[in-house]
Amino acid sequence: TYNIQADKIITPIPSTMYGIFFEDINLAADGGVYAELVKNRSFEFNMPLAAWTEHKKDGGDGRIEVINRSAERPENPHYIKTYVNTDAGSFGISNEGFRGMGIKEGEDYTFSVIAKQEGDANVKLNIELHGDNDAIIGKAELLPTDKNWGRYSVKFKSTATVKKAQLYVWLSGKGIIDLDMISMFPEHTWKNRPAGLRADLVQKLADMKPGFLRFPGGCIVEGRDLNNRYQWKKTIGDIDKRENIINRWNTEFKHRPAPDYYQTFGLGFMEYFMTAEDIGASPLPILNCGMACEFNTAEIVPMDQLDPYIQDALDLIEFANGDATTKWGKLRTDLGHPGKFNLKMLGVGNEQWGEQYIERWKVFTKTIKDKYPDIKIVSALGPDPEGDKFDLLNKTFRSLNADILDEHYYRAPKWFLDNARRYDNYDRKGPKIFAGEYAAQSVATVSPDNKNNWTCAIAEAAFMTGLERNAAVVKMASYAPLFAHVDGWQWTPDLIWFDNLNSYGTPNYYVQQLFSLNKGTDVVPLTLNKESVAGQDGCYATASLDKTTNELIIKFVNSGASAQIASFNISGAGYQKQVAVTTLRSDNGDAVNSLENPTAVSPVQSTVSLSGKVLKMNIEPYSLKVIRLKTK
Ligand code: AHR
Repeated sequence: TYNIQADKIITPIPSTMYGIFFEDINLAADGGVYAELVKNRSFEFNMPLAAWTEHKKDGGDGRIEVINRSAERPENPHYIKTYVNTDAGSFGISNEGFRGMGIKEGEDYTFSVIAKQEGDANVKLNIELHGDNDAIIGKAELLPTDKNWGRYSVKFKSTATVKKAQLYVWLSGKGIIDLDMISMFPEHTWKNRPAGLRADLVQKLADMKPGFLRFPGGCIVEGRDLNNRYQWKKTIGDIDKRENIINRWNTEFKHRPAPDYYQTFGLGFMEYFMTAEDIGASPLPILNCGMACEFNTAEIVPMDQLDPYIQDALDLIEFANGDATTKWGKLRTDLGHPGKFNLKMLGVGNEQWGEQYIERWKVFTKTIKDKYPDIKIVSALGPDPEGDKFDLLNKTFRSLNADILDEHYYRAPKWFLDNARRYDNYDRKGPKIFAGEYAAQSVATVSPDNKNNWTCAIAEAAFMTGLERNAAVVKMASYAPLFAHVDGWQWTPDLIWFDNLNSYGTPNYYVQQLFSLNKGTDVVPLTLNKESVAGQDGCYATASLDKTTNELIIKFVNSGASAQIASFNISGAGYQKQVAVTTLRSDNGDAVNSLENPTAVSPVQSTVSLSGKVLKMNIEPYSLKVIRLKTK
């Protein structure tokens, strides 16, 4: 018998409690949520013609030169000069896309290019989409008219759905034409923004009703070296002026090499802020603190050269919150967003550790707080919650009155079960906690064999009851990583998997979603023999009120092999007889979802009856139940 004191509030649950961690790993951005279909569109890969192939047919002839104009355009140095040697036949190039291009029947596609004709040339572009067996599934023509660089575009429809299509650009008419930024987007994107984001993937995020969106990572913030760090100012404005860099996750793990993984920053800071706004999430940018990834070069900037890094942070706050009279607020306005992004928190560093981090963190924090005292700083505690480095940072940041500490744990399912009480004794008056990256690992951390199975998901659910019970100190939590392309990933498990056309939420996704949609506004006591429920007979639970809907919400995890007959004695308000129950369960700990069976483990709705102030119900083995009682 469990007791619930529905009239006794322990602590409010912040709106930010359950959120999203976004990082461009596993083709999450380029090749994923950023809907661009052309890979290496501006020829900036180390091998400038990577992903492109030359073709000649029917006596056609030509050649391509890669031109480097770095003095003039350091942020976009390469373009191709294309020589069409004869009017006969066809000469052209094709692009392989990101593991192919996902094309849908009846969808409109916009092909665009920045081009200039040389001399008297009138080289025409014949655009073709090739589907299975090289069948042409869409075509269009485009004639760039100018001798100066100009952007040209044409829209056309696809006649078939194909998962791995290719784009061909045939050139006709003898002459020379220069080409750059060869691009193709579907018409239907998230909110139908031109050159926007993949709607199905953003919808999955919106469906979680996340409290915050952390971006852009992860290790990607740090870069392998400082040259390769994430610099937000290079990710806004015209896309042909956003400097591409190699992705920190390129070829990182030998078992899934991705030797062609770059960041175009088509999904840049403006898009991140707007997506956060679209889905009702508080933005949480994380910035480089003058240190590169400690798993790589661990390069650090000398203290006397830290200023530009700190200036980036100050300018970002102005970009997000400043009005049009400020330099960076004006830029946001000029980019089409006069409204402020209401930035309240900012991460300084990702997984850094050691004295150098603390030294840099102090200067960052003082300078930011002097100018923006209300901005909360998120400080990283590194990747090992049991390690000495974690302990040292934890003690130091506490002594420095840090605002929010970012804890990461990629651990076995058992660790999550065993740690459901992790925060029970954390100092309520000390720094707040952001469980910024966590995921149960079915085999071992960073093992390519890890699965998003039900054993892991239910362990996370058990752990999350502990996060919520401790909402007085835990203010934010996010699963990581978020996205993975089934044909191009470096890290598993991941919350949402996708191919070029479809996507699915893992059992872990449904756990996150259920907690987020049912968090309520205030924690109330749910006890067994006066103790919170965190492991007794394999059960874990939390209860909350939702003051906006006048409901009592119980989240109950039975991680054990036996069913439980639970009796909830509810004191306080009277509740309606009919009680809504959502169950997520599987008898098989190895159960996973997949593209073929996306909802194998997914929520099922039912009802039970309340008898007076007692709710008695069967809780199946290996199940998570969300129970909502409406006030009479
Ligand atoms: O989520 C994958 C990686 O794990 C993140 O980039 C990093 O912060 C952590 O080590």
